Amino acid sequence: MQYETVALDEQEGALLIIDQTRLPGEVNILHLKEQKDIWQAIYLLQVRGAPAIGVAAAFGLYLAAKDIQADTWEQFYPAFQQAKDYLNSSRPTAVNLSWALNRMAKIAEANKEKSIPEIKELLRKEAVAIKAEDVWMCRQIGEHGLTLIKDGDGILTHCNAGQLATSKYGTALAPIHLGRERGMNIKVFCDETRPLLQGARLSTFELLADGVDTTVICDNMASQVMKNGWIDAVFVGCDRVAANGDACNKIGTSGVAILAKYYGIPFYVLGPTSTIDMSIEKGEDIVIEQRPPEEVTEMWYQQRMAPQGVKVYNPAFDVVDNALIAGIVTEYGIARPPFRESLQEIFRKKQENIPR
Ligand code: MRU
Repeated sequence: MQYETVALDEQEGALLIIDQTRLPGEVNILHLKEQKDIWQAIYLLQVRGAPAIGVAAAFGLYLAAKDIQADTWEQFYPAFQQAKDYLNSSRPTAVNLSWALNRMAKIAEANKEKSIPEIKELLRKEAVAIKAEDVWMCRQIGEHGLTLIKDGDGILTHCNAGQLATSKYGTALAPIHLGRERGMNIKVFCDETRPLLQGARLSTFELLADGVDTTVICDNMASQVMKNGWIDAVFVGCDRVAANGDACNKIGTSGVAILAKYYGIPFYVLGPTSTIDMSIEKGEDIVIEQRPPEEVTEMWYQQRMAPQGVKVYNPAFDVVDNALIAGIVTEYGIARPPFRESLQEIFRKKQENIPR
């Protein structure tokens, strides 16, 4: 795909994002300078997907910091903290948001003795590094994920965990894009992913742009395509993985995992370590975002399709029980059950790889 999901235009002092609410009909690049516009872009899912949200927030916080008029750390820090808390309030579930913002804050705090212009420059560098690392992590996830499939396989995916959800390649779709680069022919089935249709609109858009054999199905057709024998593995992304391997992802993912178990199809979660939250013990402790009812009753329809006054339940995410997961594919390899141990091992490898 020729478009960047998230970028910083330093000249203009703007966050550039491809407006994902307009895809696939219209490719519209937004130039966001105001904090409220960046907050809104995250909340409205103009930029979405856990890693992309983190990168957008890091650039957003840098832009906020750049505009703070201050000569001393004491003047600078409260305004910086306020901007950080504001961006952090845009969506609650994907841990990459707070992860990226905390990384930015740590850089500022570790350098509080420096001048304010120096701190601002370090923040810019950190945000750029977060994006570069995201590209690297996705590529590594792609390499590890590719070991799980072979030419001609059929993969079912849910939501969009592709390039549009990250800085490049994606997580769940990274093996597909890498496989394509290497001449493999993988067939991808995209759940449309009600209510916001990330599968139907976004995964299909980026997979077709890459020339991948792509089929969209309604969410309630997953069982049938599995029964048909068309699916060799399920690849999904994640928004927050708990220390025990319970994986939170787009609403509907847990149902797909249950179906995969029934049909004996391996179910893999692909995500960077920035999405693994070892401070959370188990899936039940993850805060699930609730979204406006109109996303269910009105969006995408010419006319409202549910009666006025009906109650609507619209959680944006659900949690896949770790017992249903064959592996969690990270940039440092594939964690297998039991996840409490294997995820710790992944973090040990990460620690060893930190440049000193
Ligand atoms: O509400 P969204 O579209 O931000 O949800 C996105 C997902 O659930 C993705 O699967 C997840 O963030 C992983 S993206 C690599």
